[in-house]
Amino acid sequence: MDLEARIRELLVQFEADAKSAPDKLRSKYVGREGLLRELFGIVARLPADQKGPAGRRVNEFKAQLESRITQLAAARPVETKPSVDRTLPGSAPEPGRRHPVYRVWDEIVCIFQRLGFDVVYGPEIETEYHNFEALNIPLEHPSRDAFDTFYIEKPVLLRSHTSPVQIRTMKERKPPIRVLAPGKVFRPDKPDAGHSPMFHQVEGLMVGEDVTFAQLKGVLELFAQSMWGVETKIRFRPSFFPFTEPSAEVDVSCFICGAKGCAACKQSGWMEILGSGMVHPKVLENCGIDCEKYTGFAFGMGVERICMLKYGIPDIRLFYENHLGFLRQF
Ligand code: DAH
Repeated sequence: MDLEARIRELLVQFEADAKSAPDKLRSKYVGREGLLRELFGIVARLPADQKGPAGRRVNEFKAQLESRITQLAAARPVETKPSVDRTLPGSAPEPGRRHPVYRVWDEIVCIFQRLGFDVVYGPEIETEYHNFEALNIPLEHPSRDAFDTFYIEKPVLLRSHTSPVQIRTMKERKPPIRVLAPGKVFRPDKPDAGHSPMFHQVEGLMVGEDVTFAQLKGVLELFAQSMWGVETKIRFRPSFFPFTEPSAEVDVSCFICGAKGCAACKQSGWMEILGSGMVHPKVLENCGIDCEKYTGFAFGMGVERICMLKYGIPDIRLFYENHLGFLRQF
């Protein structure tokens, strides 16, 4: 190929590229892998007597392009990148924080773990059998009203309490059993200050050869005192749950006013925090546990309720609205 013709072609190509960044031009044309290498190839193939002048011609062309690149670089407008002042302090991203409901969840779990309870989880999508029947809540019975439920498709539902985890645990494990089952529960309640269609419960269950109501009292008293301080007292009020007999609701002495009487405890000095009782013999039997040999106690509490009492939060809906102003307080 004619050297001069090729030089002319490259020059045309170069000028067409002249808007590229100087560095790019340099490596594309005169760099080690650049297009000019081809010209040196042509020179190498020439007869010996032509190599000298041809080589000089190519070097001259190379020098021409290099000075043209320098000229183009000088003519380029200075790039105006926004300047960064590296001496300014950086802006640290705000660390995330645990949601208040889960802070209280953690606290409850920690206390019971120290008492030797295993943490277990059950499914949020449950069956009528686990949510009701096995817990001695007959399907056609008024006590069902207290556990109004979201159905997916009969007999499948969203669990309305964590008590079905008792059933699953007792069917899986042999006594002695000591478990704590925290989790989400669902009820078709219209949201208001005290109700939410989803909230959290913690269920406790202990089954063994000589588990007594006195032990239930001891464990719950220890829990209350670990949670709210050694001055905290608890009291049991007779109640009814189909899955426990006897059943009791448990109040703690108001930890906001020290049981003197305030708005949080409605001047009574007491706050209701959980339901409990001795596991009904029928429930033990439904799970294949010999109710002549074994007894058990169970309890269930609402995490949001305890969190609201703890921090003086007046409306349960605040937990789910994700207002940073609210969440940043914890
Ligand atoms: N499951 C009950 C509810 O959702 C709470 C409860 C009461 C749980 C008594 C228990 C218990 O384990 O013994 O209202």
